Parts: sequence; C-alpha cells; structure tokens
Amino acid sequence: MEYILRYLPFEGHVHWRQGAMLKAVAPYTARQCWGGIIMPNRVPPIITLDDAAAHKHEILVTIPEEDFESLIVGYLSEETSIDDVRRGFESGVWIAMKFYPRGATTNSKEGINSWELPFHPALKVMEEIGMPLLLHAEANVDESTGKEIDIYDREYRFIPVLEELRKLYPRLKISVEHGTSLEMAQFMEEHGDPKKLVCTVTIQHMMFSRQDLHKDGFQPHMMCYPIPKRAEAMMAWRKLGTSGKPYIFAGTDSAPHPTHKKESSCGCAGGMFTAHAMVPLYAHIFEQAGRLHNLEEFLCINGPRFYGLEPRPGLVTLVKKPWTKQSMVAVNGGEKIRPFGYHEEPEKRFRFEWQIKKP
Ligand code: NCD
Ligand code: ZN
Repeated sequence: MEYILRYLPFEGHVHWRQGAMLKAVAPYTARQCWGGIIMPNRVPPIITLDDAAAHKHEILVTIPEEDFESLIVGYLSEETSIDDVRRGFESGVWIAMKFYPRGATTNSKEGINSWELPFHPALKVMEEIGMPLLLHAEANVDESTGKEIDIYDREYRFIPVLEELRKLYPRLKISVEHGTSLEMAQFMEEHGDPKKLVCTVTIQHMMFSRQDLHKDGFQPHMMCYPIPKRAEAMMAWRKLGTSGKPYIFAGTDSAPHPTHKKESSCGCAGGMFTAHAMVPLYAHIFEQAGRLHNLEEFLCINGPRFYGLEPRPGLVTLVKKPWTKQSMVAVNGGEKIRPFGYHEEPEKRFRFEWQIKKP
C-alpha cells in the first residue's frame, strides 16, 4: 500500500542542541522535512539576536549537505531585548519567541514564571509585528502560595494564563506546543483558529499515556514534558490531531538526551527521541485512526501557513513496508541516544509500518 503526499513535511517543534549533538541528530529531521522550527533551550539559550544568528550559522556549517530551512526561535527571558525581538523578526533571523516556565522542563532556568508572562514587554511588540508566541503551556508554581503545582495538573492550570494573554493581546499569534491534557484539547477545540491560536501535538502524546510510562516499571526513555496524561487525554489528542482541523499540526518535540542522562539513578532527563521516524510514526497514527486523508494538512500545510510560509510542493511516497530501528544513535565523542523503537533484543523492537519510499 502506498500513500502520496503532494507537499513536503514540516517539523513544527524540534530540539537539536549544538556541536556534536546537533551533527548527530539534525540530519534525521532534514531528510524528511523541508524546514522546521528549532527550539532555543540549548545551553546557553538563544536569548539575543547574536545568539540566534550564530546558531543559524552553526546549523548551516554543521549540515551543509542538507537542503533544510532552519527557523530559529528566541528564548523569552527577563533579558530579552524588545529591540532585538523586532529587528530579528523583521530581518528574518528569528521567526517566533518561546515561553518556558522557569524550572518546568529541560534547560528552563532562564525562563519566566507563568504569571509574569502576560506582562512581558515583548508581547505588545510581537502582537504589533505579527510574531508568534510559542508556549510551553504549563504553570509549575502557584503564584499565591509559591508552592509547586502537581506535575499532572500543570497544563490545565496554565489555561487561565492563556485566557489572559488572549484578552490582553487579541491579535497575538499563539501556539500551544505539545498539548497533552484533556482540558487543553477541549480548549483548543473550542478556540482553535489557524491564524491566531494553533497547537502542535507530538507522536508520543497521541500514542502513549501515563500507563505506558509506568508499564513494567518506570520507562525513562518515554519520560518527557509535559508528562503523558491519562489514556482519555491521549485519545482526545489523537482525535483532535487527526481531525484535519487547520489549527493543529506536527511538532515532534524530539529531544536528544544521551542514555546516561535518561538511565540515571538520580533523576531522568525529560524528552523523547522520535526524529528518526517522524513521518512513519505520524502516518501510523493517522492510518490507525482511519484518517490518512488528513495527514497532508497536518504534516505539510498547517504549520507553514501559521508561520506565514508557503507550504512546499513536492511528491513524497509513503509505502507500507515494516521495518525496525537496528541501532542506537551515536554522537561523536561517545555518547549515545536511544531512538524510539530501538531495543537490544530484536524481538522487542517497535515495528514501524510505514517508510518514505526512496526515489
Ligand atoms: C525538551 C528538551 O529536552 O529540550 N524536553 C521535553 O521533555 N519535551 C524540552 C521541552 O520541550 O519541554
Ligand atoms: Zn520541546
């Protein structure tokens, strides 16, 4: 069985980092997509315009053989300069700003508290120039008590902030990244708007629930932020994700963490590596939902449109031909990443159903 996309896939949310890690992981995305949104939470984060330009340059010289358009995102922090925001957007150095709730996820200590976000001075400018705000939509600390919010409640507890943002900046373009909770799925169904309020959904949040995260003991390679929720929430995102609605699109949130940081006796890095099988896995989910006919919008059209880019025409033939991932991803210097689906014992490897047909 074959399925043809008439446009090239677009990655709406990916983590590449820098140096040897960047070199090891970027080609996986670049070989399936024509372009994508590169997240700024490296160490150090992409805060200034100079950081952004240097990052873009590093990507270009690291993967010169790939024909890929890297769209750089700025990291919203207390240090963010409004002048940089405007100049960087108008000159095309960066395409959006990303909000990280301080302390809620990987490399987020330079982020800001969720209740401070609506008053960040950059938002007014972004609304005026049409620059999207990307949200790691979690509230991890309660403003009035200063207490940590339960990890399973953080996404829905962010919804009041989202409402406030929409009230204060009615024209601001907002993307809720990697939606996971039932409440957020419902919010998006009610308010989603391809021009003003969109969301991305990952592979793992449509395939796995917290039951899978805890199956046979804690599964560190499935640990990611936002934390997978109940099966009902996963089903809601699968339904919304495959619905063909113009305000939802692919963003894998693929994040490369070396095995020693995932399989660690004190703490486990959050983030799953799915970039190697992005298109096959989204195809798998859409086929299972009986909605392959909506895959093209989700994977190729809606993302670029939100960012004001033309979807890129090109024929991609997907063929249903099972395969397994046979090796770890090696990083120069000796680190390794465990890609989703790989297992040392061949019979325990995930059976990927789809692949991109080589020309
Ligand atoms: C991401 C990472 O590792 O950079 N991790 C994750 O669990 N998704 C950060 C993020 O998107 O929250
Ligand atoms: Zn992310």
